[in-house]
Amino acid sequence: MSEPSTPFRAPVGTHDVLAPQSARWERLVAIFADYAHRYGFSLVLTPMFEDVGVFNRGIGEHSEVASKEMYVFEDRGGRTLALRPEGTASVVRAFVQHQPPTPWKAWYITPAFRYERPQAGRYRQHHQVGVEALGTDDPAIDIEVIALAARFYEALGLTRVRLMVNSMGHDVCRGAYVQRLREHLGAHADELCEEHATVWSANPLRVLDCKRSSCIEVTGAGPMLPEHLCEDCRAHFAHVVDGLASIGIPSTLNPRLVRGFDYYTRTTFEFVADALDAAQNAIGGGGRYDKLAEELGGKPTSGIGFGSGIERLLLALDAEGSSDASETRPIDAFVVDTTGTDAATVVVDELRRAGLSSARAYDARSMKAQMKVADRSGARLALIIGQRELSAGEVTIRDLRGQDHEQAQQSVARGDVVATVSNLVMKK
Ligand code: HAM
Repeated sequence: MSEPSTPFRAPVGTHDVLAPQSARWERLVAIFADYAHRYGFSLVLTPMFEDVGVFNRGIGEHSEVASKEMYVFEDRGGRTLALRPEGTASVVRAFVQHQPPTPWKAWYITPAFRYERPQAGRYRQHHQVGVEALGTDDPAIDIEVIALAARFYEALGLTRVRLMVNSMGHDVCRGAYVQRLREHLGAHADELCEEHATVWSANPLRVLDCKRSSCIEVTGAGPMLPEHLCEDCRAHFAHVVDGLASIGIPSTLNPRLVRGFDYYTRTTFEFVADALDAAQNAIGGGGRYDKLAEELGGKPTSGIGFGSGIERLLLALDAEGSSDASETRPIDAFVVDTTGTDAATVVVDELRRAGLSSARAYDARSMKAQMKVADRSGARLALIIGQRELSAGEVTIRDLRGQDHEQAQQSVARGDVVATVSNLVMKK
């Protein structure tokens, strides 16, 4: 006999989601879809892979994600493609391609692929729910997008969430600021951390993001973005912050919040869950990207959106001890059939067509074995069809969740099964 081969496992940094965990995903996505709908966003679906240029141009080829973490491959036709590392660039590419009327408001759920060092809350395939709104730079849409995220977190049951905001300015005022920052960093280059001591000049903004104390000290003594915004950007940002406050959403200015992609302009924001470890406590983030559509070959079009990591949201709920539904929805009825006929096939079909969930046993097993499966299934009711029921044109309905099985058993005419099950299930 040959040795059994080692079973395959999901690749490092990825995970399978099975019931009952998957019920939490269902709930989360349903709540997000409901909120996205309330705020006027429609679902958009784009391919999981794109021409690598969409991301190199979109998020910036020198960004950490594009240069170090992207899954890039050549297909059999010699095209260079990349698995999507985030949702925004693909959605904006689709906007540029199809030119829908604006304002265009789209929501999505998508896996995202980044070759990161896997750890709790950081995966090589993670999943995001998100929205993008294109075609207006009215601060009212910034407020709406941020409010949607905040209200969604509330609806999930999260309570310890903080919103941080910043403005990246637009190319002119940011350009002038980056030059000042570069000069400051140049004067203190030997005090920066090992990683940034050599690369500060190429992208000085990244140093603001560095969590090491040496970089924090140097940048802390240097110029900060909010003080160098032009009048327009300053007014836009003030409007967003005031608007959020007017609907009871407090925000904290974090001048170091520069985010990891090159497309951001003006408003940027991040939601952090205080119940999570600081290294992976961002449960969602986003901002404005007023140059991205042009960068991808379209007409100048403003845009703003956010993405939120599903795994992180679930970890945050766990860490808060929140009791979001982690159980699979119970099945209404389990059909036990020992007649050797198609009785179970017909009954489950009738129940399912009437909107009731039902399961059945397979492989012609004994009554005892089928009852065991029925019990294990978590079904509310067992519908039993043996030879006696078959000849009498009846079905025995037993309450599997009741206190006393004997009392909670009744025979009903075959034609009344669907109505009786409906009634019993509704009474629960
Ligand atoms: P991001 O901040 O890179 O932004 O990702 C959004 C969220 O995805 C993060 O806040 C985090 O919750 C989750 N996330 C990111 N990377 C991982 C990972 N490796 N493992 C687990 N969760 C992760 C974006 O992706 C932008 N597209 C957001 C956006 C939309 N900006 C404008 N519109």
